[in-house]
Amino acid sequence: MPSVLSLQNVSAFYPSSSASFFGSAGWTQILKDINFDLHAGEILSIVGESGSGKSTLGKSIVGLVPKISGSFIFKTEEYHPSNMRHLRQKIQIIFQDPYSSLNPRMSVNETLNEVIQLYPNAKNPNERLTALMDQTEIPKDAAAKYPHELSGGQRQRVCIARSLAVEPDVLICDEIVSALDVSVQAKILNLMKDLSEQKSISILFTTHDLHVVESFTDTVLVMNGGHIVESGTVEQVFQNPKHEYTQILLGSIPGKNHQKEDEILMPSSSS
Ligand SMILES: Nc1ncnc2c1ncn2[C@@H]1O[C@H](COP(=O)(O)OP(=O)(O)O)[C@@H](O)[C@H]1O
Ligand SMILES: [Mg+2]
Repeated sequence: MPSVLSLQNVSAFYPSSSASFFGSAGWTQILKDINFDLHAGEILSIVGESGSGKSTLGKSIVGLVPKISGSFIFKTEEYHPSNMRHLRQKIQIIFQDPYSSLNPRMSVNETLNEVIQLYPNAKNPNERLTALMDQTEIPKDAAAKYPHELSGGQRQRVCIARSLAVEPDVLICDEIVSALDVSVQAKILNLMKDLSEQKSISILFTTHDLHVVESFTDTVLVMNGGHIVESGTVEQVFQNPKHEYTQILLGSIPGKNHQKEDEILMPSSSS
């Protein structure tokens, strides 16, 4: 399988909270020398406890981290995330909290039509709207509803549908099921799996809850303190975890992650 997204020796930094003695703000390194390949149609999960750097990794790929180093390669093209406007359509990111990603004053069909109009293709807009809602299993009668009238799972489906509207090759899913009930989590994961199989979309899926990914993912990367400490197939990592941190994660009781993601990344946003 060809590699769709490759990260080589990637490090990422945020400004240090305290400016240095000389007044120039320093940088705190969050990601340390990250390497991996995401292949066509692959589901790659990044697991690690809260604060390990999963969101920073997802954001670094789409240029939402202020300082990065290393190589980012989309298919055969090396790109710099701070200058990737032409790839925004190809690499989409979805966050944990769909409520803050959706415009409260826009109905489902307005939200989706906005993107459909920005990225026209051969199909007619109404057909595309219907196809997107079918694919993401949003009921027809939800089309005229506003975000506050939808369930959490339906809101996340709208975010997924909006991302699919631009026909991406890569979907970064940052804790997208973490705020949902377990039964709804399973349905959304099934949906993501179908999408990766049917549309050959590559999915980078982050979660602090290892058990979420067990039945769903192809490959697992375990992150701790901004490093990848272990990687392998699901079988390798779950049945024979090598790193002590992975063993602890697998033995630990999954907790809820309460962090908020307020960023809105519209496909049209300028960079
Ligand atoms: N915008 C930011 N500015 C400064 N530090 C940040 C910012 N976002 C995250 N961090 C820090 O980066 C580290 C990794 O955070 P994050 O990537 O959100 O981890 P995870 O998604 O695994 O919970 C944490 O120590 C966090 O405090
Ligand atoms: Mg996170």
